[in-house]
Amino acid sequence: MEFNTISMIGLGYIGLPTAAVFASRRKQVIGVDIDQQAVDTINRGEIHIVEPELDMVVNAAVKEGYLRATTQPEPADAFLVAVPTPFHTDENGQNHKADLRYIKAASEALAEQLKPGNLVVLESTSPVGATEQMAEWLAAARPDLTFPQTHGEASDIRIAHCPERVLPGHVVRELVENDRVIGGMTPKCAEAACALYKIVVEGECIPTTARTAEMAKLTENSFRDVNIAFANELSIICHELDINVWELISLANRHPRVNILTPGAGVGGHCIAVDPWFIVDASPEHARLIRTAREVNDGKPEWVLSRVSESLEALHRDNPNARRGDLTVACLGVAFKPDIDDLRESPALGITKKVAELGCRVQVVEPNIQALPESLAQEHVELATLDEALAQADVVCVLVKHKSFMAQVDAIGGKRVVIDAVGLLG
Ligand SMILES: NC(=O)c1ccc[n+]([C@@H]2O[C@H](COP(=O)([O-])OP(=O)(O)OC[C@H]3O[C@@H](n4cnc5c(N)ncnc54)[C@H](O)[C@@H]3O)[C@@H](O)[C@H]2O)c1
Repeated sequence: MEFNTISMIGLGYIGLPTAAVFASRRKQVIGVDIDQQAVDTINRGEIHIVEPELDMVVNAAVKEGYLRATTQPEPADAFLVAVPTPFHTDENGQNHKADLRYIKAASEALAEQLKPGNLVVLESTSPVGATEQMAEWLAAARPDLTFPQTHGEASDIRIAHCPERVLPGHVVRELVENDRVIGGMTPKCAEAACALYKIVVEGECIPTTARTAEMAKLTENSFRDVNIAFANELSIICHELDINVWELISLANRHPRVNILTPGAGVGGHCIAVDPWFIVDASPEHARLIRTAREVNDGKPEWVLSRVSESLEALHRDNPNARRGDLTVACLGVAFKPDIDDLRESPALGITKKVAELGCRVQVVEPNIQALPESLAQEHVELATLDEALAQADVVCVLVKHKSFMAQVDAIGGKRVVIDAVGLLG
């Protein structure tokens, strides 16, 4: 199977670097996105997301004529789909279900361009069965073609799932170096997809079934979620028992077969906080540990908040005439993890919003953003430098372990009331 023209559907944090890396191997890449602004930006050789090194790779690929973007799919040898797969919940915030609308829309749009011999790969993180569902949508749109679910190895179209496991901030390198799990709907589908990825991947391409590949990705993120939940639970127990959880974990991790991850203010972002729910939804009766881990991690911000409330109450007891509005809380960090500007699903942001609702003044220190997000646009909340916040704060709440905070550990640790959710002070 030859892949001279590759179409990348969805040009976000995953799709754009993937498109650019294929283009850097001198393949003709047609990027497709419904966001006209993103398309225009890419066609100028610029990028609309923050990712180190990506600007150079995209700029070179566009200038040399290997990458261009459009809003409508065009014919290609292979189509890769990397559109969002969020979940939706019911009105009580329960019953987390994967939202496959974006995959359906992308499938219906690309189906028009399919021709015999094409390969379609779903890269989006997906619940088990989503690749088969994509194949059904493609088949419904193109009754003139045959698909693996009905014609097995003899089908006109090959279909596979290849989940992405790159680390934001290192995407360009990891796209090439990481091993890839490649799940075909049939062995020939897997073989075709392996051949495609080997154009760029220096790691191993390991063939399996589509369902196993879907579950492998969900398992990786659930494993991390369960481990972090264990650390978060320990942090609460240790607070009760007056033990330093950071010291405890570093001691336990000296055991050669123990590796406990780090407690924090909660778990954020759009991967670890989302993907385990796809397993819970698929097997609610049996995914007990995975569900509990999600609940433990989702409950951690409330616990941090309760510690802020307790500190404010203690300050009131010391000074009964003080009004809430006279007290200042410094929230250090609102990003979902250290040293990035991404606030999506950030527990630190959620905690900061709720601290503001307690009626005190809030100084937000987030060196990676230029302005406060809409959700914090209130008169008594302001973006401050670390120095300004430390000068004014009655309570300091460390929510993200940014490098710039680590350089000021002494100044932060010198404050009288510090709630350290991330082990900055050790
Ligand atoms: N970002 C990560 O670190 C990461 C890591 C591993 C896996 N993933 C998974 O990869 C998938 C994509 O994630 P992302 O972070 O790149 O999302 P993103 O939101 O950054 O990008 C998705 C892009 O798809 C576009 N899009 C939506 N519907 C479309 C359609 N019908 N046709 C064409 N374009 C469409 C959007 O405009 C957007 O530009 C998700 O399933 C995610 O869970 C992400």
